[in-house]
Amino acid sequence: MFAGTVHEEIPLLGGDVTDGVVRVGDTVRRPTRPSTPSVHALLRHLEAAGFGGAPRVVGLDAQGREVLTFVEGDSAVTPPAAYAVTDESLAALAGLLRRFHDASAGFVPPPQAVWEDGSNDDAAPELIGHCDVNLDNVIFRDGLPAALIDFDMARPTTRLFDVVTTLRHWAPIADPLDLGPLQRDLEVGPRLRLFCDAYGLASRDRRRLLDLARLRFDRSYHAMRTKALTTGGGWSRMWDGGAGERIRRACAWLETNQDELHAHLI
Ligand SMILES: Nc1ncnc2c1ncn2[C@@H]1O[C@H](COP(=O)(O)OP(=O)(O)O)[C@@H](O)[C@H]1O
Ligand SMILES: [Mg+2]
Repeated sequence: MFAGTVHEEIPLLGGDVTDGVVRVGDTVRRPTRPSTPSVHALLRHLEAAGFGGAPRVVGLDAQGREVLTFVEGDSAVTPPAAYAVTDESLAALAGLLRRFHDASAGFVPPPQAVWEDGSNDDAAPELIGHCDVNLDNVIFRDGLPAALIDFDMARPTTRLFDVVTTLRHWAPIADPLDLGPLQRDLEVGPRLRLFCDAYGLASRDRRRLLDLARLRFDRSYHAMRTKALTTGGGWSRMWDGGAGERIRRACAWLETNQDELHAHLI
């Protein structure tokens, strides 16, 4: 590649929310938002801390879009491929989240940092979490999770809240009715345990995990509805596509199965 090379813009369509995400050469261009400078400070900190599982910040382009490095690999999609739902992948994802948290915990946000709103834990924040480790925000290489992308929802939170969000999508904590054949028959209780062991989650957090998952469902329902009404765009598409009903069903499924799942955690 040489200076002046003109690359075409290739739309990246995997995500739910952000319109206008494109690949240009070995970069990704995304629209900015009020939290972009804070997210860039976080990503720069992760790079300085030696955490390799996130895109690097390149800067802003002439159109004012953020420029991040393109992370090679495959992002998981819904429904996920077989390699994305293995126990090995789940354990590797727990390790990736743990390394991200350990790197993020040393980050001192800039004064006047701005973060996206969203549901949260009541406990005091411990770090800036990713807060959106859904299927399409994890990049796989050689069949294992290698990086997190899409830090738009990053915000001060607890380790446990990020763990809960991740498990919602990856254990998954969901009504089997809403899952494809590969995820429908997974043994969720043992997978919760596997993830917490691989992460090294503290026992006080394990005891609180499923209660926080239910609280999060309730708060996420309202947070998403508000974003669908006020922000529109991809948020409305998700809401109109039944995201709220899926959250309600997942919460009911969890309530029914909570005691049995809890027994695997403690
Ligand atoms: N830095 C990146 N490296 C590789 N792929 C990316 C990167 N950023 C986005 N993508 C691809 O584009 C898709 C949508 O981008 P994303 O940032 O997740 O947008 P959304 O906010 O809509 O979820 C991702 O699922 C992924 O496939
Ligand atoms: Mg995404």
